[in-house]
Amino acid sequence: MDLQNLAYALTQVAHNFGAVAVVGGPLFARWPQRPQELVRRRLAWLVLVGWMVQGASGAGFGAISYAYYGTFPDIHGIAVAALLLKMGCAVAGFLLVTTVLHQRERWSAPRHDMAWAGLLVLGVTALTAAAFLRWFS
Ligand code: HEM
Repeated sequence: MDLQNLAYALTQVAHNFGAVAVVGGPLFARWPQRPQELVRRRLAWLVLVGWMVQGASGAGFGAISYAYYGTFPDIHGIAVAALLLKMGCAVAGFLLVTTVLHQRERWSAPRHDMAWAGLLVLGVTALTAAAFLRWFS
């Protein structure tokens, strides 16, 4: 078995499930109806782990390339923009969901709704950028 392919595949497994968490978590927190506070708190933890997994597995892709080729993938233009956008979403998503957890009791319900909407926008944006990174690389 080719170890490089295995490393990429396992990293992609983590990256795919991380994507499910950062998009699915905020979606369930808003739709089809607002869940109770305990459920939202658990979703917030899931989304936090999801953003951390995305950052780590995204870096993992780069690390595998570097380990096997001694350099990072040679990407340009739209692919670079898409990668930077994904990294920006990961940082913003991590910070926003951490704030949601910290401000749990202080924030009003509409404010929480707005934060969850923001998390959904970040997840959807990153997932969209992933397609551009893939096909413009
Ligand atoms: C620090 C953040 C991130 C980094 C550094 C990163 C990096 C990468 C890299 C290097 C690839 C492989 C690209 C290729 O096959 O050419 C990839 C694939 C992918 N990423 Fe990310 N990513 C990040 C965050 C995200 C997020 C937040 C999502 C989703 C919400 C996401 C979704 C995907 C998907 C779905 C693929 C597979 C695309 C495909 O092969 O069709 N990534 N990512």
